[in-house]
Amino acid sequence: MSAKQSWIASQGTPLQGTLAIPGDKSVSHRAVMFAALADGVSRIDGFLEGEDTRSTAAIFSRLGVRIETPSASQRIVHGVGVDGLRAPEGELDCGNAGTGMRLLAGLLAAQPFDSVLVGDESLSRRPMRRVTGPLSQMGARIDTEEDGTPPLRIHGGQPLQGIDFVSPVASAQVKSAVLLAGLYAQGETSVTEPHPTRDYTERMLSAFGVDIEFSPGRARLRGGQRLRATDIAVPADFSSAAFYIVAASIIPGSEVVLRAVGLNPRRTGLLTALRLMGADIREENPGEHGGEPVADLRVRYAALRGAVIPEDVVPDMIDEFPALFVAAAAAQGQTVVSGAAELRVKESDRLGAMAHGLRTLGVTVNETPDGATIHGGAIGGGRIDSHGDHRIAMAFAIAGQLASGEVVIDDIANVATSFPGFDTLARSAGFALRAA
Ligand code: S3P
Repeated sequence: MSAKQSWIASQGTPLQGTLAIPGDKSVSHRAVMFAALADGVSRIDGFLEGEDTRSTAAIFSRLGVRIETPSASQRIVHGVGVDGLRAPEGELDCGNAGTGMRLLAGLLAAQPFDSVLVGDESLSRRPMRRVTGPLSQMGARIDTEEDGTPPLRIHGGQPLQGIDFVSPVASAQVKSAVLLAGLYAQGETSVTEPHPTRDYTERMLSAFGVDIEFSPGRARLRGGQRLRATDIAVPADFSSAAFYIVAASIIPGSEVVLRAVGLNPRRTGLLTALRLMGADIREENPGEHGGEPVADLRVRYAALRGAVIPEDVVPDMIDEFPALFVAAAAAQGQTVVSGAAELRVKESDRLGAMAHGLRTLGVTVNETPDGATIHGGAIGGGRIDSHGDHRIAMAFAIAGQLASGEVVIDDIANVATSFPGFDTLARSAGFALRAA
């Protein structure tokens, strides 16, 4: 194995410019999956050329789907129909992608053939019973390791029954896995969530011609439906934009415009939180991109104040806490996060990784089981372990821009899972960030 890569972040210049953020990860995964299952040829524009979404595309190639790559951000998918996937040879590698593995679990549980889903070190530690539980209730047979982690050994050929699933966790991945299995099940399948989560699966299935009823927190479809090919335009990923939103908000003198960012309301909780803290973020040129609301975001530096983050906004910013923690460290006063225990089972334990990392840089953070209180103040230099988590690595690259000394960030290769080119774009905007 090659040595782990590191970055050195230090104080740069105020951020300036108009930045193009890559395509949305959640939408890109689903676009490939649903296009593969559709009858006919679909074209995807704005596809995220990241490792996670490339893993998903590679899996569908192994399942017999022809996928062309006319350019890095385009895919042409020759759908095989809901009953056209072929048994793969060998294991299917989801890489670092929880979305890939959990959605595929629902889909592959319904196929006539066996399959095995594996992932990298981080994904191999993540909980899968949240999907294998409801899928077994539908009649699926999936073995996990004893502690409920991957690999997932899926025994195909099981007839599935629709269920009314009341999910104990607010998770779009769980909801989506059940709905995808539901497409193949007898009768109707419904999912009710404790808090509404991102609804890309519902919106996109509907765009592919599936009759699906959905409203915030609830979705219902009938099994036995087919998908009709359609073209998908992927908006820029809000979760990737989030790092620049926070960076421009906390680096004095900054002003950036982030072009055509996806603003699905189930994703934009960070805007609510930052505005509570006094951020200056304006939405300009509102429009629609592939059925999703988008706008340019103009972000100017503002002196942030600490805030209590309302718990009901947590699911709408579930991927944005690493960035928020850095905003909180740069703010005046305390920021309180609670109701965010899910952060402990992401690509890393994000509460632990952020609390520990910020403390290393001299910031006072009191961690609780489901959150933390961050005391804003001076940020110093130090050496940070990103735990191979892309969002932890990018968050500390921002912290480094304000730090009084150098911040060395170890194990950063996984930034390419969601945001290839983050460092090049960051340097073009004003970051001081270099390979160690
Ligand atoms: C995702 C759902 C969220 C999110 C992840 C992507 C999706 O996970 O954290 O990055 O595409 O459905 P959970 O469903 O586990 O909350």
